[in-house]
Amino acid sequence: MADNKPLVGIIMGSQSDWAIMKNAADTLTKLGIANESKVMSAHRTPDKLAEYVKAAKGNGLKVLITGAGMAAALPGACAALTPLPVLGVPQDGKVMGGLDAILSMVQMPAGIPVGTLAVGRSGAINAALLAAAILALSDKKIEASLDKFRADQTAAVNENPEAA
Ligand code: RP5
Repeated sequence: MADNKPLVGIIMGSQSDWAIMKNAADTLTKLGIANESKVMSAHRTPDKLAEYVKAAKGNGLKVLITGAGMAAALPGACAALTPLPVLGVPQDGKVMGGLDAILSMVQMPAGIPVGTLAVGRSGAINAALLAAAILALSDKKIEASLDKFRADQTAAVNENPEAA
């Protein structure tokens, strides 16, 4: 993790979500964006979650990335408690391959949005990249870092499918 004050808070409903959510943390760190990760559940530790999310903006966080599986109430609960942008990463590996969690997140009723990404690793990486794009609007260093990430990604594509 970068050693300055976190701009992105990553919250997951269970320690079992970390294998996927670590991809979000690693991507942010690769981009030089300070982040912190917490296990806090909408069901199991609701008071702790509410305290953290209500204080998030005042503590300098700019975006929250939330990961949850199954009923996946966490992202919506977080979004209800903060004006910060809240991104949601549905977890796979449970019943229905994550379909339960993605529907729970993406079907937020009008009024409190959760920016829902793909299920699993792709969603975690893209949540970090989307958080970076939001931060890049007002931060030249992050803008440059995101531009470089995309240029490197483009350069890494070999049009020969048989290339190693
Ligand atoms: C959700 O329930 C968590 O986000 C996790 O994906 C799922 C199952 O949790 P565990 O039983 O693995 O702790 O709240």
